Amino acid sequence: MPFSALLEKDFIGRNHELESLYDIHSEVKRGIATSIFLSGQRGIGKTELLKQLFQLLYWKQHEAVPFFYTVNPAFASVYDFSMDYLNKFIRQWLSFQKKDVSLIHANGLSTENLMHLAEKSDAHWAVDIIGNFLQVKTSADAAKLFFSAINTPYHSYLTTGMPVIVIIDNFQKTKEFYGPHSENNNNLWMLFEEVIKYRQAPHILTGSQTELQEMFFEKTSIGESLEFINLSGIDKSTSLKLFTSFCNSYGIAVDRELLSPFADLFNGNPFYIKNFIQTLRKEGKNLSADDLWNVYFNEITIGKFYTCWISQLRKHIPRLELRKVSLEILYHLCSRKTSTAPSNLANMFLISINDLNDIVNIFQTAGIIEMNFSSLKLTEDTILTNVIKGLYNKEILGNPADKIKEALLKERHIAADTHVKTVEPPLFEITIPNIPRAELIALNSLEQIAKSQNISPETIGQLQVALVDLFTNIMPQEKSSDDGNFYLKFKPDKDKFTIEIKTPYKELASLSSPDAIPENQLIKRYIDDIKLEETKSGIKIILTKELKKDTVSST
Ligand SMILES: Nc1ncnc2c1ncn2[C@@H]1O[C@H](COP(=O)(O)OP(=O)(O)O)[C@@H](O)[C@H]1O
Ligand SMILES: [Mg+2]
Repeated sequence: MPFSALLEKDFIGRNHELESLYDIHSEVKRGIATSIFLSGQRGIGKTELLKQLFQLLYWKQHEAVPFFYTVNPAFASVYDFSMDYLNKFIRQWLSFQKKDVSLIHANGLSTENLMHLAEKSDAHWAVDIIGNFLQVKTSADAAKLFFSAINTPYHSYLTTGMPVIVIIDNFQKTKEFYGPHSENNNNLWMLFEEVIKYRQAPHILTGSQTELQEMFFEKTSIGESLEFINLSGIDKSTSLKLFTSFCNSYGIAVDRELLSPFADLFNGNPFYIKNFIQTLRKEGKNLSADDLWNVYFNEITIGKFYTCWISQLRKHIPRLELRKVSLEILYHLCSRKTSTAPSNLANMFLISINDLNDIVNIFQTAGIIEMNFSSLKLTEDTILTNVIKGLYNKEILGNPADKIKEALLKERHIAADTHVKTVEPPLFEITIPNIPRAELIALNSLEQIAKSQNISPETIGQLQVALVDLFTNIMPQEKSSDDGNFYLKFKPDKDKFTIEIKTPYKELASLSSPDAIPENQLIKRYIDDIKLEETKSGIKIILTKELKKDTVSST
């Protein structure tokens, strides 16, 4: 293979995407295939998915030749790229035909050797193509050379009748080539527009989501002829499977429960998941929740997550004088869920709209912020948010690292606390206007609250009957002019459920004291204790129902 791909068993949760991409081989046969833009955040698994696709195409079908190419930043010149592209294509083609993987690995083959290989393999079409290419090379016309290389897959189809599926990773790097006289050839990549439209040589292009979006939709209209597939994060249960799979391959054991909050934080991004587990590996065997959180905070303040994002920031903001304000802007965006208009930001941070535009463009290219039509927001990525918060604390507020960690840990505990609170007896308060059928609102609220507290349906029914009974007893026969409100409190506790009602008036229709309620009334049957108290403006009635263990449903 032109790369090392994961073993099939280690490639988790992308069957559906893989199958639908694999379908392209039958489409290409029928002449209906279209080129594809596979988009998705960094680390989401685009490259891995395409590697897996290549393996399938290589081993499982004979209809089309798969060609996998990663645009290598080391090939900065048009000449080097073109040579490399042609070379790899022909080798992969011959390798597929002969099922001889070693041909793929024969890197560094010179054009002469390649020619020799083609001749030896009786691949006359390839001999012609190489010959043609060498001729174009002598003309020193960069565009011609480039086009000749990228058109080779279609060219080969025309002579052999064998369609080709071209997979190009890091496609955005095709923007960075230089020509023979070091003139900039930044626009040569646009020539791909010509070659991706052939249905017998469809291209699957991937790489940096934001840069490609810009290349395909803003700089050219290539996007219009591309099918768009967006790879999103894997879901939570698949994430947990991936955690387990990585734990197994690295030989560490961590309780699945403990990993659950991280599955949420990493938002289905395999890159984060993999790196986290890799780092955990160095921490020893029996890891506690605190160990995991420590590793996480190290990761975002000094570790790999930090390094990855900070290098993006540094790379994209070379102007030192803009870095501080950029960080302040990012920090500001961290705390906002909604989008912000750039003009507001310029005012807020006292920078010119031009500088702001620069910053915004840069961050957009780096995939750090998302620009809507007229407003912008931070990319939804909790790791990025936390890295920015850490960095801001360190560089703008001058807090030492351990302080930052403390603060972040506290934040985590606050999040954990809200979790714990629901375990403490909660209290639900509602206000209902004194209107006809007010009891229906009360009944509905009671039902929702009791359900949320896992009270059994039978008990909920009894509480509701009691509440209706109570309302018929306390609703005024004739409405007074001042209608007022009923104040209700529901207090579900471990062993009892209390309902408190305050009326906006003092004269209850028929309820003078709890003892006055006849025994045969349902409220007496279902409620264990009834209390009446006079308040300043009305009457407070407190109903308490004992909950037997079995009345709390286990679900
Ligand atoms: N479905 C998957 N199962 C297991 N590992 C995966 C999966 N998808 C991605 N990975 C791993 O996660 C890391 C990031 O994936 P990669 O394909 O490089 O992301 P992208 O190309 O979108 O930036 C790689 O190490 C890759 O092997
Ligand atoms: Mg990639």
